[in-house]
Amino acid sequence: QVITAPGAWLLPGLVDLHAHLREPGQEYKEDIRSGLAAAAAGGFTDICAMPNTLPVNDSRMVTEAMLARAHEVGGTRLHPIGAITVGQRGESLTEMGDLREAGAVAVSDDGRCVTNSAVMRRALEYASVFDLPVIQHAEDHALTEGAQMHEGSVSTRLGLRGWPRVAEDIIVSRDLLLAEYTGARYHVAHASTEGTVRLLREAKSRGLRVTAEVTPHHLLLTHEAVGLYDTACKVNPPLREQRDIEALRQGLADGTIDAVATDHAPHATIDKGCEWSEAKPGMIGLELCLPLLLGLVAEGALPLARLVTSLTQAPAGIARLPDKRIREGARADLVLIDPEERWTIDASCLRSKSHNTPFLGRTVKGRVKMTMVAGNVVFESTPRSS
Ligand code: NCD
Repeated sequence: QVITAPGAWLLPGLVDLHAHLREPGQEYKEDIRSGLAAAAAGGFTDICAMPNTLPVNDSRMVTEAMLARAHEVGGTRLHPIGAITVGQRGESLTEMGDLREAGAVAVSDDGRCVTNSAVMRRALEYASVFDLPVIQHAEDHALTEGAQMHEGSVSTRLGLRGWPRVAEDIIVSRDLLLAEYTGARYHVAHASTEGTVRLLREAKSRGLRVTAEVTPHHLLLTHEAVGLYDTACKVNPPLREQRDIEALRQGLADGTIDAVATDHAPHATIDKGCEWSEAKPGMIGLELCLPLLLGLVAEGALPLARLVTSLTQAPAGIARLPDKRIREGARADLVLIDPEERWTIDASCLRSKSHNTPFLGRTVKGRVKMTMVAGNVVFESTPRSS
């Protein structure tokens, strides 16, 4: 089969380390079918699903059920991430060996934060027995004190409690010490502060096995986007300031931050179209990630090669997925992009069940034309000539 696409770019299929697919439990927001369709439309051939489902994915049973459903649906591959702890009090660790055997590629405290240092130490030790990376959400609840936006001029203006950078920096520094002590694989989810970047740079310079990801929204938006309580901009961790953006971009460009991850967090209108304090945090990302970040490349803020690595080879390595590089004899996990096509982000063009994104109405340049998983076309934007 010959695909003719003059001027298009052919890239390895994208890998997302951080998506919330909501199944089981909250299928009105997203389900595995719609989530995988959104992923394919965004150029992703592999996505890792966070465990904050209902019930939480803390068992072999939930992991297997998610994989069975994804298999039925087909298309983009789903890789479940298991929870670190079981139970509401969160002091016992999950059966990580079982989770691994069932197909989990990592464990995370998403949904059940691990703020207790002893539990984190045990989690790192146990996860390393199974070579599972521990993906840490990096939120110190004692320091966030229930805040729902960045602590700064905007939180002051709006009269909202602020979430200080140090709530992230303290957990990251604690965990880097624990990761060094245990020798475990530790991964920082959605880094949002300049302090995190500094800590990671220092840890990496000393050879620690740590990795990190950053989201498109933390690379592109500041807390100013919250404006007058715009719930589309309510997200965990919160949108920060220009100096954080600069540090995150620099960290991604120089490899201190390994991967870009979407933190695709679909919420229904009812969850967002309410008072700020009631609104759920999170925004969708699978279909917007690549075009939004191609904008950063066009501005000269990020080298294209780094963007591609951070969305393919780097996350694949962290989740121990097969090599994504395009080479003779490799399976065709590919994405075809028209780098010149301009389009305006509009709810009607999204495959996700939810449309909660502050980027609606933004015109972007670069569009996914086709996604292939193991040689099969799983998304195609217009009929191709062959
Ligand atoms: C996440 C979600 O909606 O699942 N939301 C988000 O803002 N990132 C959960 C979370 O991390 O709080």
